[in-house]
Amino acid sequence: MNENLHQLRCFGCGAQIKGAEAQPDFRCAVCGDLFEVEYPGWGQRRGNDRPNAGALKWLWRERRSSSEALDRSGVWRFRELLPILENFGNAVTLQEGNTPLYQLTRAGKALGIDQLYAKHQGMNPTGSFKDTGMTAALSVAKERGFKWVACASTGNTSAAMSAYAARAGLRSLVLIPEGKIAWGKLSQAMDYGAVTCQLQADFDGCLRLLTQIVKEAPIYLLNSVNPYRLEGQKTPAFEIAEAFDWNVPDHLIVPGGNLGNSSALGKGFRELHELGLVARMPRISVIQAEGANPLVRSFAANQGTSLEPLEAHTRATAIRIGNPASWRKAARAILDTGGWCLDVTEAEIAIAKAELGTEGLGCEPASAVTLAGLKKLRAKGAIGSSETVVLVLTGHTLKDADYTIDFHRGTLLKPEETVGLEAEIDKLRRNAVVVDATPEAVLAQLKGK
Ligand code: F0G
Repeated sequence: MNENLHQLRCFGCGAQIKGAEAQPDFRCAVCGDLFEVEYPGWGQRRGNDRPNAGALKWLWRERRSSSEALDRSGVWRFRELLPILENFGNAVTLQEGNTPLYQLTRAGKALGIDQLYAKHQGMNPTGSFKDTGMTAALSVAKERGFKWVACASTGNTSAAMSAYAARAGLRSLVLIPEGKIAWGKLSQAMDYGAVTCQLQADFDGCLRLLTQIVKEAPIYLLNSVNPYRLEGQKTPAFEIAEAFDWNVPDHLIVPGGNLGNSSALGKGFRELHELGLVARMPRISVIQAEGANPLVRSFAANQGTSLEPLEAHTRATAIRIGNPASWRKAARAILDTGGWCLDVTEAEIAIAKAELGTEGLGCEPASAVTLAGLKKLRAKGAIGSSETVVLVLTGHTLKDADYTIDFHRGTLLKPEETVGLEAEIDKLRRNAVVVDATPEAVLAQLKGK
């Protein structure tokens, strides 16, 4: 059965091509912009021609209790909304998605927001949201007969890609910036058998180089310039809508690096809305680290119509990106939904991460920018106390344990970064102490706590 109903549409000039006609770098031959997967006719469906929303919602929920691997995947259980394969039997899955949505009671109370939640995408099989996109795009690579796949990465994409490639029996090539990715992520690429090249370049340089390589060898590019990645990454939008019984939250807050994720979530909610499955879209806001904030600068200078690349610096290495590929798509998600784009400092990120920790939720520093950003939005009155807010936590805390340990030891931040925040930081630090192996010595530690 042919389950493939899609085509690719250039985000810049609108040129439409068949999926298999895309160039190896996924850039438009006419204008050089990126493509988006589109399903002809979806936007125009009206009345009886629309899908039966009630039946689909029932089917998607029902599949969670199925024993079929495809149904148990939080991506492929929504396959009616991502018909990108000739045959769904070709899907490569590690049972990604179906991640938890946690209520944040302490942060909610501190910020005066009753309905504050975290969608924890770090609870995916390789520990980050990248799995949802990888199952989609790697399945396309397999179906089209590629033997090699590749990505440039700040660590999580490479971990996800090498795991899914290993499952599919494909070979994988990883380009990463030397010394600039967290060990947990590097160890995953090694374990899953990728050819891992550490380059004397930043992420943007790695991606530039890989773009040349895929033009010279039959290697399938799996960075988020590949539009099929975003098809998988749009499915957390469906899970979020489902979790709120298809009444979407008021506000979604997403970290911004290469800006694929915010673009994908925007597409997911837009499609649900177009198909009549939800009544409106949430506001989507994107938060960047202060030293890696090209989209924030673009909004400040020209409302997101052009972007100046920069050299990025942040300890949140996952989002250390100065020339984000999907910035136009992310700008559209923000502008279409009335969201905001702002940045947060290194100290604000560290504090927000530790605060999430006090609620029993670990995450990567890159994920904690969402809570830090929410605090700023709340302070400037952009979010009301009765609004429902969802933070998208993108990566698992164990990906970058060094960051957490350095924070609690007090070696993470420089004094000049913490001016005025010392007391707040001290309250959150929980360094491990060396204690004599006696009950008295251990019990003495509890005094005053
Ligand atoms: N959070 C984490 C944990 C990430 O790994 C990334 C991106 C982002 C947020 C930003 O998402 O790029 O879609 O805006 N990591 C990429 C990688 C670039 O190579 O793993 P984005």
